[in-house]
Amino acid sequence: MSHATPASSDEVAVRLRDASIGYGDVPIVSHVDLTVRRGEAVAVLGSNGSGKTTLARGLLGLATVLGGEVELLGAPVGRLRERGRVGYVPQRHTVSGAVPATVREVVSVGRLARRGLLRRLGPADRAAVGEAVAAVGLADRMEEPVASLSGGQQRRVLVARALAAQPELLIMDEPTAGVDAASQAALAGVLARVAAAGTTLLVVTHETGPLSGVLTRAVVVDHGRIRYDGPLAGADAPGGHDDGHCGPEEPVTGYRLDQPTVSARAAGGRR
Ligand SMILES: Nc1ncnc2c1ncn2[C@@H]1O[C@H](COP(=O)(O)OP(=O)(O)OP(=O)(O)O)[C@@H](O)[C@H]1O
Ligand SMILES: [Mg+2]
Repeated sequence: MSHATPASSDEVAVRLRDASIGYGDVPIVSHVDLTVRRGEAVAVLGSNGSGKTTLARGLLGLATVLGGEVELLGAPVGRLRERGRVGYVPQRHTVSGAVPATVREVVSVGRLARRGLLRRLGPADRAAVGEAVAAVGLADRMEEPVASLSGGQQRRVLVARALAAQPELLIMDEPTAGVDAASQAALAGVLARVAAAGTTLLVVTHETGPLSGVLTRAVVVDHGRIRYDGPLAGADAPGGHDDGHCGPEEPVTGYRLDQPTVSARAAGGRR
């Protein structure tokens, strides 16, 4: 839902103002306005290559902000001092490097981000790691090398790593991709709890079905612009894979909306 009044900084989790984000000097996301208030649970939708990951990475300082303003939890991008306040599940993972790491070790890294690398993990940290791993259904794999898990299980480890930090803002890039139906349902349950506790969620996904009870607002990215910003129920993807009624393939601009397209600028109502 958009509100007519501008939100003050401490109510805002994410704010983009006329933001352009890209790689090198090439913008991929252009002139985007978006405000996500604390406690909102927002889906980021759109076709392959539309710029969803670039948008998410721009928030984390992993892609270049080429213009405009990007703020996270009241701080300009890259200036947030406690990195643990923001959790991130990347779309493409490189969990297994040269050093074999167990599930416990990888998830503990999420905790270190919160504590600072020089602090030793205490009992509360170990409990949070245990809870996060249990939440993704991998408690019995705690001491196994992550490299020995399946692709879907490895994604769940990354979700656990982000959850363990108990972030105020959780940005997840396709957390359910390649994850089986039972685990998707379990993840939806976890995210519902986290959202109820006040965590802001920004979830890039092609599968809103499993998370439809959690995510209430949708932002549709199309060719690097926001084409829709409104209730999740109004943002049907063309040729939608969850339900057959959307009809066959349509051009990428053809997000079928049951209401007029709302541009971010108009929806924000700030001017
Ligand atoms: N590291 C990079 N360097 C240069 N260009 C990139 C880089 N990563 C992505 N791009 C380009 O940015 C565009 C958008 O990519 P992005 O990954 O943001 O799309 P997406 O919406 O997340 O797609 P998908 O649904 O496939 O994950 C693509 O054209 C891609 O080629
Ligand atoms: Mg992506």
